[in-house]
Amino acid sequence: MTAYSFDEIIPRRNTASVKWDEFEADALPLWVADMDFKAAPAILEALQRRLDHGVFGYELLPQSYFDAVSRWFDRRHGWKGITREHIIPTTGVIAAYSACIKAFSRPGDNVIVQTPCYNAFFPAVRNNGCRELCNSLVYKDTTYSIDWEDLERKAADPKTTVMLLCNPHNPAGRVWTRQELERIGRICLAHGVFVISDEIHCELTYPGHDYTPFATLPEEMVLNSASCISPTKAFNIAGIQIANIFAADPDAVRRIDRAINDNECCDVNVFGATALEAAYDGSEQWLDDLRAYLHGNAQTVYRFLAEELPQVKALPLEGTYLMWLDCRAALHEGEPFEGFSARFADHLRFDAKLVLSTGTIYGADAEGFERLNIACPRATLTEALGRLKKGFETY
Ligand SMILES: Cc1ncc(COP(=O)(O)O)c(C=O)c1O
Repeated sequence: MTAYSFDEIIPRRNTASVKWDEFEADALPLWVADMDFKAAPAILEALQRRLDHGVFGYELLPQSYFDAVSRWFDRRHGWKGITREHIIPTTGVIAAYSACIKAFSRPGDNVIVQTPCYNAFFPAVRNNGCRELCNSLVYKDTTYSIDWEDLERKAADPKTTVMLLCNPHNPAGRVWTRQELERIGRICLAHGVFVISDEIHCELTYPGHDYTPFATLPEEMVLNSASCISPTKAFNIAGIQIANIFAADPDAVRRIDRAINDNECCDVNVFGATALEAAYDGSEQWLDDLRAYLHGNAQTVYRFLAEELPQVKALPLEGTYLMWLDCRAALHEGEPFEGFSARFADHLRFDAKLVLSTGTIYGADAEGFERLNIACPRATLTEALGRLKKGFETY
């Protein structure tokens, strides 16, 4: 029995929610990465207190903000020594890694991404005038691993200056091990490739899989990196928009700070700091209960698929609440493989009334896959699985 319950169904339609109000009203939306749960009580109380003050002028970030970040990562993840001088606060992780790309590349450079990868990696690379070099993850026996030879070759290309890493990985659901991260760190260091580690999903890992902060690797690798962290995914406060960039090298801090201030628009809002402090300082039990609930949701998916829809394979979810489904068995004989993910997702949406994220938005190598967001009450998930089965049978 846990202290918090996540079974409550909170209506979100007509609340200007991207997840719930973007598509047809009768389609169940399990796509974009936010959760259908209320934020932790400590966060709601802190925001209410801030609201009750009634004055929302320009705000300084207090030392307690930096202390909260530092204490949390030290206590939970063994990441020591985060101090104020190494942190650049900003509005979101996309803004964070985009600024880091700008700081460490020049237009025309290559940026390595590991596809299938978070879809908003592509525009960040291209908007900085760079070109993505895809280090395709290798899919074998329903799990993904890294093609090391390909990574080494792409890092060695003189035009490659940055690698944008996703740790843990969305949508593959992998929580990279320390050994894997060190090998990435070593390859990048050897070829002068700066590592930007997007760690937004770091709190959401499941038994047997621990998040390793890139910044806890050997010092020379850490100095060649920046990490983008935020409580928004794990505590379901993405709309509040708060994130931090960490860099150990003071020169990297200066370069990133310069890049992020180019457009003078990345200061955080008055609720961001309040929510972050309440998350890290007052919501730890809530987070642990949430992780247990999400783990239970993942088991629900595995069980359902094993019993009712064995043709669809869910990849082992080591971290994140985004399940990657291998749906290739739905492909008809003679049907072209190309375009299958989009056609199947459309069929699910319009016929079975279930919105998933189309696999190929994460990379051309994701044909045949769809992404399912399991961060919802179990009753909602069960309804969605029924719709998935119907969609599979009627495709
Ligand atoms: C890997 C990853 N990075 C960044 C983001 C978005 O971050 P933010 O909303 O803080 O810009 C997401 C959202 O799903 C994500 O999955």
